[in-house]
Amino acid sequence: MPKSAIAISPKVLVPLILILLTTMSCRHHPVVIIPGDGGGNNGGGSSGSGGGGVEHPCDPDTVYFAKDVLPILISNCAMTGCHSTASHREGVILDSYANTIRTGDVEPGKPNNSEIYEVLFASGEKRMPPLPAARLSQDQSDIIKRWIEQGAQDLSCDDACDTSAVTYSGDVRPLVDNYCTGCHSGSSAGGGIQLADYAGLKAIADNGSLFGSINHDAGYKAMPQGGDKLDACSIATIKIWIAAGSPQN
Ligand code: HEC
Repeated sequence: MPKSAIAISPKVLVPLILILLTTMSCRHHPVVIIPGDGGGNNGGGSSGSGGGGVEHPCDPDTVYFAKDVLPILISNCAMTGCHSTASHREGVILDSYANTIRTGDVEPGKPNNSEIYEVLFASGEKRMPPLPAARLSQDQSDIIKRWIEQGAQDLSCDDACDTSAVTYSGDVRPLVDNYCTGCHSGSSAGGGIQLADYAGLKAIADNGSLFGSINHDAGYKAMPQGGDKLDACSIATIKIWIAAGSPQN
């Protein structure tokens, strides 16, 4: 009987992997598949939404995990030494949807029963991110709160990419604050690079490392560190701003 069990398993596994891959390919943002995860957390939510090429315009009242929540977690929580897969402090890993749901003590619908939200306002040892890091901004805490209130789902959407009138304040600064500033501000700024203000960003725009790092060019460290590459529209936006001389407009 062990023989038949061994004979069946690849037959079951191969179609399963194929189904998983097909489901993933519909997504705008790639999902990190953790070995041993079983895919259970991701499979269910999106399988009903169906075929490729269907547009899901972004609803301003909906919180999207990959676009809105994950960048906050990557740049404030999932750094090396904290809640990355390798470091997993206290068993908490906040570098993907599956890991966040599995280890972040998220109770869908109930932010005040969800540790990932409660710790943002805690003091002493429970406080996250711990001192000397600044607390998340009101906007960032609200995004996490609303994501949990809306069911802590893994929703995604596609906006048309409009790069006709790129500005620093309207386009570039929000992107950098979302994806970079958590790791690039204060006393522990990554590589000593400060990106919370214009001057710091202008410096890396001028020396080429801003574009090189987000475009994952050879010779540069890939940014955001430990996160997915920025979407094509965000990279195009930053490229256009740099080409215009990185103005503070
Ligand atoms: C999770 C933390 C983290 C995030 C998020 C992050 N960085 Fe970094 N970054 C680092 C660290 C740490 C270093 C220093 C790496 C080293 O020296 O090995 C670094 C280095 C860099 C460098 C120097 C790269 C080089 O090759 O010289 C640039 C430029 C940079 N980051 C830009 C960005 C930008 C732009 C973003 C947002 C799109 C970003 N980073 C997001 C942690 C982060």
